[in-house]
Amino acid sequence: MIRIVEVGPRDGLQNEAAAIPTDVKVAFVNALSQAGLPEIEAGAFVSPKWVPQLADSEDVFRRIARRPGVVYSALVPNLQGYERARACRADKVAVFTAASETFNRRNVNASIEESLERFRPVLAEARRDGVPVRGYISTAFWCPYEGKVKPEKTLEVALRLKDLGVAELSIGDTIGKASPPEVAELLGLLAGRVPVEMLAVHFHDTYGRAVANVLEARRRGVRTFDASTGGLGGCPYAPGASGNVATEAVVRALRAAGDEVGVDLEALARARAVIAPAVGRALAE
Ligand code: HMG
Ligand code: MG
Repeated sequence: MIRIVEVGPRDGLQNEAAAIPTDVKVAFVNALSQAGLPEIEAGAFVSPKWVPQLADSEDVFRRIARRPGVVYSALVPNLQGYERARACRADKVAVFTAASETFNRRNVNASIEESLERFRPVLAEARRDGVPVRGYISTAFWCPYEGKVKPEKTLEVALRLKDLGVAELSIGDTIGKASPPEVAELLGLLAGRVPVEMLAVHFHDTYGRAVANVLEARRRGVRTFDASTGGLGGCPYAPGASGNVATEAVVRALRAAGDEVGVDLEALARARAVIAPAVGRALAE
């Protein structure tokens, strides 16, 4: 079964220049909740100094109207973030590291190894609390500072996260530079080492290749796709990164490829209408 993980309220809004009022974020998540999406990444409990755009994630989590069956997840970089996420009842958390040292240092002020060490207590607490944990690997294909990332390096980080006990691994093309052959190569390398059911793919669309990459990942057995309604998004510590692949485009592409996707495009259009005036630019449809 196809699962679309909506990351617009987190990955999208973390990189919008306009200050988005909390009320609008809450209304956006509530509108997305009506679209049949199984999971919505609704905020991040990172340092408010590093990402001021998401400093109100507590308020967002406390004020949304939770639709039964929808998982509301949050990004956490460390135990402090996990505790904040738990205090406002995030259903799931996502830790994040990278396959490139320079990017990880710029993004979380730590080496890859140090960031993995920070996740240990998060995973221990989450296991005790029964909270599932996703692990993101950023710059899984390309790094804005180091260029091409060796797939073997991404595999190594994937295995470390798997050994730490994450339930799901999201493979991030942070700057949208991957191409279908690179997706095929990396997924081929991961095959047999990481169960494909554990994998999600997370494509940004900087060079217009994200939908082709989604379809390549689908051919390789991946069934979980991260996407942002309206193509919102980017990463403040990845110069040049544009938005995530649009949820609307992923839904259409998967349907055209023959999959059933339980996401309502009209409900997504209503969610887009909530957020578009606040971001102040045209969104993808
Ligand atoms: P640091 O400055 O090294 O942290 O930042 P520190 O541990 O030295 O602490 C410094 C201060 O931060 C302290 O406060 C801490 O309490 C506070 P002070 O004593 O100075 O008042 N602090 C926190 N406050 C709130 N919540 C927390 C927290 N942790 C520490 N959780 C840190 C290290 C990791 C915190 C910082 O670098 C950070 O927050 N980075 C996040 C950057 C980020 O969010 N980037 C975007 C998300 S990743 C992404 O978009 C990629 C992805 O989409 C996949 C893809 O596309 O590839 C996931
Ligand atoms: Mg991202």
